[in-house]
Amino acid sequence: MSACDLSVRIASLVLRNPVLSASGTYGHGLEMGVFTAAAELGAWVSKTVTLEPRGGNPAPRICETEAGLLNSIGLENRGLEHYIAHTLPLMAAADTVVVTNIGGERVQDFAELARRLDGESAVDALEVNLSCPNVQGGKLPFATDRVLAAEVVRAVRAATHKPIFAKLSPNTAGLGEIARAVEGAGADAITAVNTLLGLALDWRTRRPGLATVQGGYSGPGIKPVALRCAWECARAVRIPVIGCGGIQDAADALEYLVAGCTAVQVGTASFADPALPGKLAREMASLLAAQGIGSARELCGTIHDGREARDAVQAR
Ligand SMILES: Cc1cc2nc3c(=O)[nH]c(=O)nc-3n(C[C@H](O)[C@H](O)[C@H](O)COP(=O)(O)O)c2cc1C
Repeated sequence: MSACDLSVRIASLVLRNPVLSASGTYGHGLEMGVFTAAAELGAWVSKTVTLEPRGGNPAPRICETEAGLLNSIGLENRGLEHYIAHTLPLMAAADTVVVTNIGGERVQDFAELARRLDGESAVDALEVNLSCPNVQGGKLPFATDRVLAAEVVRAVRAATHKPIFAKLSPNTAGLGEIARAVEGAGADAITAVNTLLGLALDWRTRRPGLATVQGGYSGPGIKPVALRCAWECARAVRIPVIGCGGIQDAADALEYLVAGCTAVQVGTASFADPALPGKLAREMASLLAAQGIGSARELCGTIHDGREARDAVQAR
């Protein structure tokens, strides 16, 4: 066992290590438990929960590409009531921090979800999926507009006492501004980022890989983009940033910490190796110990980027 201290703090939560599951990739109950016990995670993030059940998009809705995955699941889930009655008890039993990811098509949907989950003691934090399309605003995702993104977070803040992670999208310019806007609206942390918009097709059949034609690109191919997004957010805000995108091994995860993140989420890579989320923390500890670094926190924001991100991180 290595002597490295991996624990990190996000708002009022103390995580035993900085590795979280990424929403939608770690199952809803016991699916992953045979490979990675949730107790090995710093926190377990649920798939996006919506007020009403959603059937999701037509198939095919997953498509493998050269360096990652395209998906257009369409937020399929059984709705809030089913989540509270059936999924949450399984998550609560797992001896880790439980984060419920929420999604909606209107600001009031997010507020209602937050209000109803506020009374659930098993929920330790809410992650707000701002990549959902805003049906009242031309279906553009909330995350692409700093005013709208802040409006959602403000509404969630007013409806809950729990820590809020605002999950941002890479599909926009001015990410630092958006990060600042959601921080100002009351977010306790930022998750950076969700999937990139992508397209795959077969030139012979002329058919796209997904029934919805475009979808969300994830996996190793997005890492440089996602890492830049996380770094941009970390420079812009004082709240913790949770990096997400393309992490395949412990070195990838440590790069996110150097870029200014307090923790990371791992998604697509766990489809190829379902035991990965559990392994990551152990491997991070050995890599840090081999460098004589005593804690994950020491690495946070140590990038030599001219305007040291560390100054902002140390003030947290
Ligand atoms: C199949 C699949 C389903 C996903 N479902 C959700 C979801 O329900 N809510 C959400 O916020 N993000 C969802 N994501 C995005 C991931 O949580 C993560 O942000 C993204 O995949 C980038 O990380 P990765 O490259 O490690 O997968 C999903 C990703 C995949 C691949």
